[in-house]
Amino acid sequence: MTGPNLALNNGYTIPQLGFGVFKIVPGETAAAVREALHVGYRHIDTAEMYGNEKEVAEALRTSGLDRSEVFITSKLNNGFHRPDDARKAFDGTLEALGSDYVDLFLIHWPLPTLYGGDFVSTWLTLEEFYRDGRARSIGLSNFQVAHVRRLVQESDVVPAVNQIEVHPYLGNEEVRAANAEFGIVTEAWSPLAKGRVLNDPTIGAIASRVDRTPAQVVLRWHIQRGDVIFPKSTTPARIKENFQIFDFELESHDIAAINALDRGEEGRTGPNPDVFAYVPR
Ligand SMILES: NC(=O)c1ccc[n+]([C@@H]2O[C@H](COP(=O)([O-])OP(=O)(O)OC[C@H]3O[C@@H](n4cnc5c(N)ncnc54)[C@H](OP(=O)(O)O)[C@@H]3O)[C@@H](O)[C@H]2O)c1
Repeated sequence: MTGPNLALNNGYTIPQLGFGVFKIVPGETAAAVREALHVGYRHIDTAEMYGNEKEVAEALRTSGLDRSEVFITSKLNNGFHRPDDARKAFDGTLEALGSDYVDLFLIHWPLPTLYGGDFVSTWLTLEEFYRDGRARSIGLSNFQVAHVRRLVQESDVVPAVNQIEVHPYLGNEEVRAANAEFGIVTEAWSPLAKGRVLNDPTIGAIASRVDRTPAQVVLRWHIQRGDVIFPKSTTPARIKENFQIFDFELESHDIAAINALDRGEEGRTGPNPDVFAYVPR
């Protein structure tokens, strides 16, 4: 059992449930990813910024699985938006991953207040990686509605995904709708709001009724809404628990009750992409 795949707009597919490795220190990454692959996850979400691409690759190499069996995403770090820097950074990602391709490569943040507001030339550089086949798919992360519209208007390749913060306290519906309008799959990052939604009474009540954990209910809610997710955990029992979400279904009134928990901007756990301008040194 490895979970369902979703179709991307370019003929490739993506496993709807993956495993995220943000904030997993390099020394713990290989063990966590190996555990995830053992449980059945076939999609790993990493980034150059996370500093653990090499350890993701190490886990895959020692897992007994073939490279082609696992979908790997990485992301362009914020300091490398200029075309030449992006080319070097992408070479570095492939080298760290020990692979001649990545399944999906994203612009990590739009950084609209940096680089003179130009994320289009960065995207056109990612199009080079897509055309030469070293990135099977390319996409966005943290792009707001206006950013998505501008990019689609000013470039040739429609992004395959837009990875944005989504969980019960931040529905992010406008961006999800814009993604859908252009055939862009929404990936919901921090699907558990970093654990903050797990004590919510509404979610707790549904969990008791369906005899599942709050985390399973929240992850199932995402799956039924059609988004791609990759919860992070370094706890083996939770890595397993988070994968056991394909043998039950929430009813439409449960989905609606969780949708109603949306707190808008106040629900964000991460930075607002319109003003985020962090460049790691
Ligand atoms: N594109 C972006 O800008 C961006 C930003 C943030 C995240 N992401 C991606 O999204 C992934 C997931 O987001 P995230 O790591 O921020 O947060 P998350 O997956 O929403 O939550 C992770 C937290 O929840 C805990 N947890 C996991 N499963 C649990 C369970 N079954 N029961 C109770 N607690 C549980 C984990 O604890 P333990 O580890 O201690 O078990 C960890 O503290 C990241 O790893 C990354 O791949 C992308």
